[in-house]
Amino acid sequence: MLDFQRIHEPYKASLDQALLDVANSGQYIGGPEVVGFESELSRFLDAGVCTVGNGTDALQIALMALGIGPGDEVVVPAFTYAASAEVIGLLGATAVWCDVHKSTFCINSESLSKVLTQNTKAIIAVHLYGACADIESIEKIAPGIPIVEDTAQAFGAKWTSGKYAGRFAGTVGAFGTLSFFPTKSLGAMGDGGALVSKDTKLLNLASKIAKHGQREKYVHEMIGVNSRLDPLQAAVLRVKLKYFNTSVESRKVLAKAYADGLAHLKQVICPQNIDEGHILHQYTIRVTNGDRDALKAHLKQSGIDSMIYYPMGLHQQEAYRHWEPNYTLEATNTLVQEVLSLPIGEHLSTEDVSYIAAAIEAFYNHD
Ligand SMILES: Cc1ncc(COP(=O)(O)O)c(C=O)c1O
Repeated sequence: MLDFQRIHEPYKASLDQALLDVANSGQYIGGPEVVGFESELSRFLDAGVCTVGNGTDALQIALMALGIGPGDEVVVPAFTYAASAEVIGLLGATAVWCDVHKSTFCINSESLSKVLTQNTKAIIAVHLYGACADIESIEKIAPGIPIVEDTAQAFGAKWTSGKYAGRFAGTVGAFGTLSFFPTKSLGAMGDGGALVSKDTKLLNLASKIAKHGQREKYVHEMIGVNSRLDPLQAAVLRVKLKYFNTSVESRKVLAKAYADGLAHLKQVICPQNIDEGHILHQYTIRVTNGDRDALKAHLKQSGIDSMIYYPMGLHQQEAYRHWEPNYTLEATNTLVQEVLSLPIGEHLSTEDVSYIAAAIEAFYNHD
């Protein structure tokens, strides 16, 4: 789906130099690259930042900082990556599934209202595929319940309307959590993650948890974890952050080319929530009439990769089946059969997209 050699080509010399500088510095844990990246990221987002080892750690640490534990319920959409729910179980709490909107793939606050109980201690709102979830309506339906914005797939996305217009995804909840997994919109050359918050007290607590719960060296105040961003990854991310906006702009051009190329196909539903604030982490179409898997196979035959994010609702996964949903997750159950993510990224041209759109058209009009 992504060709990193081509994506990195315009700034390859800077990346090589950044990696070499860390290798030659002898500073392999923490140090100036990590501090520098944290301050640049914080300036970019206009919020406090604490880097950690990956996006899953960021979610777990956010829940730990909010005091989530046994007996607590945390609401999470069933249509997301496993990490969003896994961390709830790791802390001995209970995941409570809610549904998403078919049109945005993000949390449906009406479904949220059906699963809230006195034990609901947090809500994980996932900004899926690069678009902002509707945090404002969650706040209205669940006032006072802390929201963790799982921003692994939406670094750089912004709201374009409502109370949070102009703000970045991940900066309005109790915490935002980021992943710098290589395929993400701001991707490292390995694992990386961060917590984001405007609440300094909460962020300091999270930072302490990420460092074995220590206040100062060898003084441990609470049970924590060991989770830190590697300086090599910080150095890479400092370079890539400079090119972030260019990367999003080229994805937007490709998304427009997909929309133009696919608009006339009635069996395909193009993403309906693409606006100025969407960063196009994925371009995910819905394939109706049960044709999704056949279309995927057809594309494969034409040399085109595509991905299914996600083939199962998390409530259907063996690991999480003990958390039975309280009601039918209609949108999730439909989307897992319909979604197909098409290639998108700076390594592609609009001609590539036209080729892919033509291959999809050929699937439907082959005789
Ligand atoms: C929605 C979501 N949450 C969390 C994560 C976890 O991030 P990481 O792989 O950095 O642990 C991912 C990664 O794919 C994700 O897509």
